[in-house]
Amino acid sequence: MQKIIDELERRRDLARRGGGEKRIAAQHARSKLTARERIELLLDPGSFEETDMFVEHRCTEFGMSDQKVPGDGVVTGQGTIHGRLVFVFSQDFTVFGGSLSETHANKICKIMDRAIAVGAPVIGINDSGGARIQEGVDSLAGYADVFMRNVIGSGVVPQISLIMGPCAGGAVYSPAMTDFIFMVRDSSYMFVTGPDVVKTVTNEEVTQEQLGGAGTHTAKSGVADAAFDNDVQAFHEVRRFVDFLPANNRSGPPIWPCDDPADRDDFSLDSLVPANPNKPYDMKELILKVVDEGDFFELQPDYARNIITGLGRFEGRTVGIVANQPMVLAGCLDIDSSRKAARFVRFCNAFGIPIVTFVDVPGFLPGTAQEYGGIIKHGAKLLFAYAQATVPKVTIITRKAYGGAYVVMASKHLRGDVNYAWPSAEVAVMGSKGAVEIIFRGDLGDDAKIKARTDEYQARFANPFVSANRGFIDDVIMPHGTRRRIAKALRWLDQKKVDDPWKKHDNIPL
Ligand code: HXC
Repeated sequence: MQKIIDELERRRDLARRGGGEKRIAAQHARSKLTARERIELLLDPGSFEETDMFVEHRCTEFGMSDQKVPGDGVVTGQGTIHGRLVFVFSQDFTVFGGSLSETHANKICKIMDRAIAVGAPVIGINDSGGARIQEGVDSLAGYADVFMRNVIGSGVVPQISLIMGPCAGGAVYSPAMTDFIFMVRDSSYMFVTGPDVVKTVTNEEVTQEQLGGAGTHTAKSGVADAAFDNDVQAFHEVRRFVDFLPANNRSGPPIWPCDDPADRDDFSLDSLVPANPNKPYDMKELILKVVDEGDFFELQPDYARNIITGLGRFEGRTVGIVANQPMVLAGCLDIDSSRKAARFVRFCNAFGIPIVTFVDVPGFLPGTAQEYGGIIKHGAKLLFAYAQATVPKVTIITRKAYGGAYVVMASKHLRGDVNYAWPSAEVAVMGSKGAVEIIFRGDLGDDAKIKARTDEYQARFANPFVSANRGFIDDVIMPHGTRRRIAKALRWLDQKKVDDPWKKHDNIPL
């Protein structure tokens, strides 16, 4: 018996040493933690239970029979974050560059199956050179098995990917199918193929950072949801993020204790919207002032900044927040912001998270760049997503709500449950000047006449009362009471149920 126990310890020790001291030192020299150090920071102390520590690959090509490391380059298992169950895999770059073999894939699939069966999030820590080249098609099959589970689990349990090293090939396509991707600045990269292949095929010369660094994917491509300065900060923030998430699509959002009174007024909001309708103001100020304890987790803060998306809470319960940002492109909807918000709205709807929408939108961004890029299809994504969402939807119009963009932004017409407007709201088919130029196209008159007609249109339509008169706005509320009114609405909408006709699935304009 003692012999077996000693052997067990020897094998455990071997597994913990991964690719050896030299490679671990190289990992640390790049300011990267090891797979096990990362799990320790992610999970509650002592909560991790490892699975498949003794699994080894079965490849015999290229002298691989002599190169076996117990665990085969990925640490898998489950643990808790602030007491709530999560499943985790963490790729070990010190073992064959964290590359994915058949057995490595099997380990990931096992914990994904368990997560889906019991209804708990999957967190993947990716640090991998992609398919293990020595294994050929077996490793491709392994990736396909992981992809299948990404798809089957989508909308069932939240899936989060942390990118914590150079990730190529299959190592980016699995994260692409998860709900959220977080990166680390200066040490993580995502690309389908690296700079060398790019040079060969397209003759372009780019660095890893330019091609697929955190800056590229958080600001240009929108592939990643946020980036952090280092591994430690990333885990701190992901723990905070997981606190907002439901465990699965049936559990509903978690409820945390909350000391922030639901009826807290904030009188500074009464002067948030400037008197001049063309002057911007920061919509984030409104969000931070109404959510519980000013705690807002923003997603994609550096991408399509004309729309804000993120998670906050009212009375301790998670809500998704979507808001036009007048500080960027006057808050217009364009291709990027429509795609960004549509995906977020669909995530919230899939997981039963109520959506609170703050509207100040002068319309869709016009121009050839937008039309050639397909704004019609992309804008329709957001329209489709809001219309489809059956979770509680509370909408506050703070200022402009013009034209098609008014309809899109969780209006009453798209099954908005509670639609409020501030007194500064202007719900109209378009801005007054544009309207006058069209209505009186043949007879615009001199400057004085144009001004008189613009003022007349402004007085008649640039207010919340025409739409309130139709019942498209439920009430005109004072800005200082916004938190109280949203909290109340969410309380009575808590048990909302909607039955749509059966279908296999929709055909959202992709
Ligand atoms: C086997 C690999 C590997 C791989 C890296 N290694 N990638 N081993 N299969 N895919 C090994 C290296 O041999 C090396 O071993 C160790 O990992 C560290 O790699 P380095 O190259 O020294 O590190 P670095 O300079 O940081 O470069 C990292 C990297 C680079 C950018 C990831 O290794 C790389 O380009 N790898 C190949 C990427 C790739 O083309 N993958 C296949 C994708 S195809 P030693 O023993 O020296 O420590 C794919 C298809 C999926 O994934 C399709 C699904 C649809």
